[in-house]
Amino acid sequence: MMDMSMWIVLGTAIFLTTMILYRKRFRLRSLQRSTLPLGTLGWPFIGETIEFVSCAYSDRPETFMDKRCRIYGKVFKSHIFGSPTIVSTDAEVSKFVLQSDAKTFVPSYPKSLTELMGESSILLINGSLQRKIHGLIGAFFKSPHLKAQITKDMHKYVQESMETWEDDHPIYVQDEAKNIAFQVLVKALISLNPGEEMELLKKQFQEFISGLMSLPINIPGTQLYRSLKAKKKMANLVQNIIQARRKNGVSAASWVPKDVLDVLLNDSNEQLTDDLLADNMIDMMIPGEDSVPVLMTLAVKYLSDCPTALQQLTEENLELKKLKAQLGQPLRWSDYLSLPFTQTVITETLRMGNIIIGVMRKAMKDVEIKGYLIPKGWCFFAYFRSIHLDENHYDWPYKFDPWRWQDKDTSTTCNFTPFGGGQRLCPGLDLARLEASIFLHHLVTQFSWEAEEDTVVNFPTVRMKRRMPIWVKTKSRGDP
Ligand code: HEM
Repeated sequence: MMDMSMWIVLGTAIFLTTMILYRKRFRLRSLQRSTLPLGTLGWPFIGETIEFVSCAYSDRPETFMDKRCRIYGKVFKSHIFGSPTIVSTDAEVSKFVLQSDAKTFVPSYPKSLTELMGESSILLINGSLQRKIHGLIGAFFKSPHLKAQITKDMHKYVQESMETWEDDHPIYVQDEAKNIAFQVLVKALISLNPGEEMELLKKQFQEFISGLMSLPINIPGTQLYRSLKAKKKMANLVQNIIQARRKNGVSAASWVPKDVLDVLLNDSNEQLTDDLLADNMIDMMIPGEDSVPVLMTLAVKYLSDCPTALQQLTEENLELKKLKAQLGQPLRWSDYLSLPFTQTVITETLRMGNIIIGVMRKAMKDVEIKGYLIPKGWCFFAYFRSIHLDENHYDWPYKFDPWRWQDKDTSTTCNFTPFGGGQRLCPGLDLARLEASIFLHHLVTQFSWEAEEDTVVNFPTVRMKRRMPIWVKTKSRGDP
């Protein structure tokens, strides 16, 4: 009897367990079969990376996406940079992912990039520490005090640079813009002025940034090895500054932070380590060397190809210059940001230029959005470029047309995300616009120019192939 009941209990347990397991597998299979986006994972290991990269090097990187969108739809599966990936060219799906928190999606970038950034970089950390640092930096970058300082520094560095421009030599806009934007940002981050240390930093930074999209092999002779060495030298310089600040402390009650380092060092709630601070100061120099100068350079490129836009921009800026001269006032940061046409030129440059083509995340659990399944552990690539160049969102998307932005609010549409969105929306977006506005103001009010032929390179980062050479002519007073 005893034996019999034991067999019944055991049999029932086995039956129930089998049913549960079967149902679970069946549910997962049917979920995957019905909702995992269409697409192909390509070759073993390399997936579709080679095709992605070869398109990325062309002048139409989005052809990789366009081809697949036509076959599979706006959201498709692929395998790039070593991970199975869901690629999204659908603004709503991308918006949802960007707005999710770290329990659902975390940043995920190629290995060379994460090794160089360091694990405590704001671009890679998650949760409360990321929110904290993001909030502190964002608030500081928005402060009128910093904007006034940036405006003053930009004037100084732009003027110094433009004073050396001669009519009978080509000016390489990209180099000039990099030099100016890097100095301005380093000053805002750690209050370093031009001089020996700045030159050392600039030199090491070039080496550092070359490794961001290199092969992830760290042995002597490789780019990653050289870049990591350069980062160490820069970190030493920044750590010396940090230690000197910690030693001096804060003296007066009326003390105001003079740079981002001050803001982070003196946050009473969080004791941030020297390593974290140094890593982040260096990572935040990247937009100074890369994104912001590229924005300025591309604006010059597009304006050179569109004389009517250049004329309208010049008139707007000359008018402001004249008005300020009559009032005997210097130009303030708010003056620049209030120039409506100049702002539409910058917006259109951001849309067409796609300086950051998209952002990458990794799913921490199975996620379903708009009927698509993003499986746990898969990467998600929100590809902004396709959205910015989608003819369903923008008429004649490949035409530089600043007028399309007149009377439009860029902050409310999910079809325009050059600065990302959600929890990680770029905290430097106002600064980038301000720097570009000041650069353009000085350029168009002081010079006319002839641009040489040049083309945009899109990979691994956006830049001009020939560094955008132009031949300038100094304007005499009253020249349009
Ligand atoms: C044209 C110029 C710029 C462009 C196109 C740009 C674009 C972006 C994008 C798309 C992101 C989102 C990354 C993600 O979601 O993973 C981002 C984040 C960020 N940007 Fe910018 N950026 C620019 C200028 C700047 C400047 C001037 C700064 C100042 C230091 C800056 C600092 C940051 C920081 C700290 C983050 C990380 C925010 C976080 O993860 O919490 N950016 N940027």
